[in-house]
Amino acid sequence: MKLLITGAKGQMGRALNKLLKNKAGYQLVLTDLDEMDITDEKDVVRVMTAEKPDVVINCAAHTKVDLCEDDTENAYMINVTGAGNLSKGAAKIGAKIVHLSTDYIFDGEATTPYLEESEPNPQSVYGETKLESEYAVTENNPKYFIVRTAWLYGEGNNFVNTMLRLANTQNEIRVVNDQTGSPTSATEVARVIAMLIETEAYGVYNAVCEGQCTWYDFAKRIFELAGLDVKVSPCTSLQYVTRAKRPKYSVLDNKNLREKFGYHLQPWDDALREYFAGRHN
Ligand SMILES: NC(=O)c1ccc[n+]([C@@H]2O[C@H](COP(=O)([O-])OP(=O)(O)OC[C@H]3O[C@@H](n4cnc5c(N)ncnc54)[C@H](OP(=O)(O)O)[C@@H]3O)[C@@H](O)[C@H]2O)c1
Repeated sequence: MKLLITGAKGQMGRALNKLLKNKAGYQLVLTDLDEMDITDEKDVVRVMTAEKPDVVINCAAHTKVDLCEDDTENAYMINVTGAGNLSKGAAKIGAKIVHLSTDYIFDGEATTPYLEESEPNPQSVYGETKLESEYAVTENNPKYFIVRTAWLYGEGNNFVNTMLRLANTQNEIRVVNDQTGSPTSATEVARVIAMLIETEAYGVYNAVCEGQCTWYDFAKRIFELAGLDVKVSPCTSLQYVTRAKRPKYSVLDNKNLREKFGYHLQPWDDALREYFAGRHN
């Protein structure tokens, strides 16, 4: 099976590459901005026609949530137009498409985990573009897997690495304690994608590590596992103001993975321990 991965230099792209590069029967085509700009329809058609992948996995995105508030045009171009170009391009050659989406399509007012069919109501430009990106994918190719994840960490820019970096310069770190979600390892999501692409069970799938916590809880656990003595102080979103509004509660329920495949992702704490074990190898 030939897989074309976009955004291959990002966290998800790297996790997929690591998981699948040596898997028998798989051939990977890794692309990032230099190889194919997903906002350029002609570029996408050129690469698709030349490579003829069986599956396109779109890990490319504008993921800087705060920057998206001001860089709106680019955010739409990359997240929506880009996703649409890839979905159309994949459909033209009969390929399946996997597209990553986010918990930030929800408003965070729920008190129980969001299901795949829960009503979206994004509160940020990033969230809006990611919701639109889902439509751009599903409208253009019936062979789609929308994989919604959240609070992702792998190799690259993420909360875990930010905390570890801050620990080098600060003895005390303030972290918001009124936003609840599910920290999710990119490796765990890559495993879900590897399973899904072997099927024709097209649809929308929530894919987050099991369980929930606040950013504050997450930070404390990061420092414990890293063996760092850092004081973490809880604060509110009002005390730690960001350009984009984040949902208060954005836990996702992996209902479709569970009901269709009996598939479970690891609890977030187990996945975090696996991540730290891997970092030291
Ligand atoms: N990170 C999270 O916490 C999180 C949570 C939920 C869902 N997701 C979703 O998961 C997916 C993967 O996220 P990630 O964290 O792996 O992202 P990432 O690390 O930011 O990687 C995205 C990659 O896409 C590239 N890219 C940007 N514009 C492009 C273009 N026009 N053409 C081709 N490539 C382009 C980026 O290059 P540059 O770095 O040069 O821009 C980068 O290498 C995204 O769809 C994201 O929305 C992420």
